Amino acid sequence: MRQPMVAGNWKLNGSQSSIKSLIDDICSGASELSEVAIMVCPPYVYLPLVADLLQDSSITLGAQNVSEHSSGAFTGEVAAGMLKDVGCAYTLIGHSERRAIYGEQDAVLAHKFVAAQKAGLTPVLCVGETLAEREAGQTESVVQTQLDAVLKIAGVQSFNQAIIAYEPVWAIGTGQTATPEQAQAVHQFIREHITQLDTAVAQKVRILYGGSVKADNAAELFAMPDIDGGLIGGASLKAQDFLAICRAGHESARAT
Ligand code: 13P
Repeated sequence: MRQPMVAGNWKLNGSQSSIKSLIDDICSGASELSEVAIMVCPPYVYLPLVADLLQDSSITLGAQNVSEHSSGAFTGEVAAGMLKDVGCAYTLIGHSERRAIYGEQDAVLAHKFVAAQKAGLTPVLCVGETLAEREAGQTESVVQTQLDAVLKIAGVQSFNQAIIAYEPVWAIGTGQTATPEQAQAVHQFIREHITQLDTAVAQKVRILYGGSVKADNAAELFAMPDIDGGLIGGASLKAQDFLAICRAGHESARAT
């Protein structure tokens, strides 16, 4: 069985003092939530601080982005090996904000995915359609194109050490969550697409849902058969909200 995961993507938020108290509160509540894997993704500069704060905890650390390069003259970039060096186990790749605001395209994201794995990080590949694409009936083809770019370069076996996050762009930060049925349909499509290449990999790979997940809708999303947890934005910045979502993940594991 796939263990549920709840990951907090803090985006461009936080300070040393707010992060210390957030981690403190999350750690005290998370100790009893043994059935869910919990991860947090702070801004780069706070990664060593959070790694230190998480030292005695089972909560893992992820970055929000990574360079496709391993070293050299790439001003402003951070390499996967550096993230590993400061205690990261994961990195997000291709979040829709990276795709839309910073123009990151499928080809470069595939190279980031490979670079992350080469350094021993588990990539969390984010995919998802815009509202216009959904309304044009293109959800599956958009998601498939995003997946195929990585499958082509990294191969299906690489998804033994990767996570997929389905985040419909229209649900991110809008308060408009996909219904459990809408989300499940795309998660199922993703798993079936991978099944065509390798059944065992498809059964193993975690697919997280992201987009306005809150304490009051997490349980019904996580109850769907192909939803293995969530990637949480806004609600991950408040310890009690985040913990309530983690608890929904914990309970969903106990229910199966
Ligand atoms: P919200 O939970 O704020 O909608 O953000 C989702 C997200 O982008 C997580 O990566």
